[in-house]
Amino acid sequence: MLRVGFVGWRGMVGTVLLDRMRSQGDLGSLELHFFSTSNAGGPAPDGAAEPLLQDADDTARLGRCDAVLSCQGGAYTSYAYPQLRSSGWNGYWIDASSTLRLDDDATLVLDPVNGDRIRKRLAEGCRTFVGSNCTVSLLLMATAGLFREGLVEWVNTTTYQAVSGAGARKLTELARQISYLGLPHAELERLSSVQVEASVTRAQGADTLPVAEIGAPLACNVLPWIDRAMESGQTREEWKASVEATKILGSESPVIIDGTCARVDAMRCHSQALCIKLSRDIPIDELRAILGSGHSWVRLVDNSQAATLQQLTPAAVAGSLDIAVGRIRKLGMGPEYLGAFTVGDQLLWGAAEPLRRLLGILREQRG
Ligand code: HSE
Repeated sequence: MLRVGFVGWRGMVGTVLLDRMRSQGDLGSLELHFFSTSNAGGPAPDGAAEPLLQDADDTARLGRCDAVLSCQGGAYTSYAYPQLRSSGWNGYWIDASSTLRLDDDATLVLDPVNGDRIRKRLAEGCRTFVGSNCTVSLLLMATAGLFREGLVEWVNTTTYQAVSGAGARKLTELARQISYLGLPHAELERLSSVQVEASVTRAQGADTLPVAEIGAPLACNVLPWIDRAMESGQTREEWKASVEATKILGSESPVIIDGTCARVDAMRCHSQALCIKLSRDIPIDELRAILGSGHSWVRLVDNSQAATLQQLTPAAVAGSLDIAVGRIRKLGMGPEYLGAFTVGDQLLWGAAEPLRRLLGILREQRG
């Protein structure tokens, strides 16, 4: 059995990943050892191969694992990974953080899109596998069919990113902001809409609104800035799109994706409005079929109000593996411009699921 050391299993991504492993019955075919940076010697969770948590800074113990799966974050990877490698360990390092993404030695994992590449890299001896940026992963999951057919010249994306992508503390702060902005039901009944709006807007500007984590009101608001500034004028989140998509797809030439990334007050699904420049004019029915054939998780949504409101929103998709793709139509710019809107759960396909499935590929390779 594959012996896996799991670090960072209590955070948001780690929790979702462990839930998926449990619900999919993965634990029966893995020997799972839980490590902790803060509670070594404490009780390990259900499904653990040994009753106590191991020390995540114990290189020798980590080194006994065939694979180390880390959802602990970039700071941990930055010191633990080089220590482990320099100890001579040649196991599989599987990471949710961005630290190693652009290392030449690392392969980005998103197997419904690049499964062949993952298997090829494994055969070549690659031992470092990293989950991609969630926004990029979800975009490529939505457009896999088009990329496979070589139909994409470039993509412009406007994102509506959930707060879970910013981390647990910001998610909690958003929930607190929502509560600060809320009006008691009885008061809502007697206030006019103008008074309701004035109350919410006043509360957004009040000193008492908690903003220490997010830096601004996010509840009932949109923040068109994610991550730090790059010299290009992009944010780092925007910069990652082309760079990581190129690496995921193993493309010789840069995959051109650019746009504006915004944080919205959704909880766990990222949405993206896409303008895709096609390499040639193709009838819309064929494009729908190609999008739908991307992989088995694409859910095409009819371009109607009812279907859109029921199936193409963060609330509708949260907690599912569906990659909803709708609002599919030719844009007014010309017959080679395709518009679409996509929604995906950033904790599942955007983070946990590609890592879980990589473990499946490793098990499959061992026979
Ligand atoms: N950078 C993403 C976000 C997280 O801020 O939403 C997923 O990679």
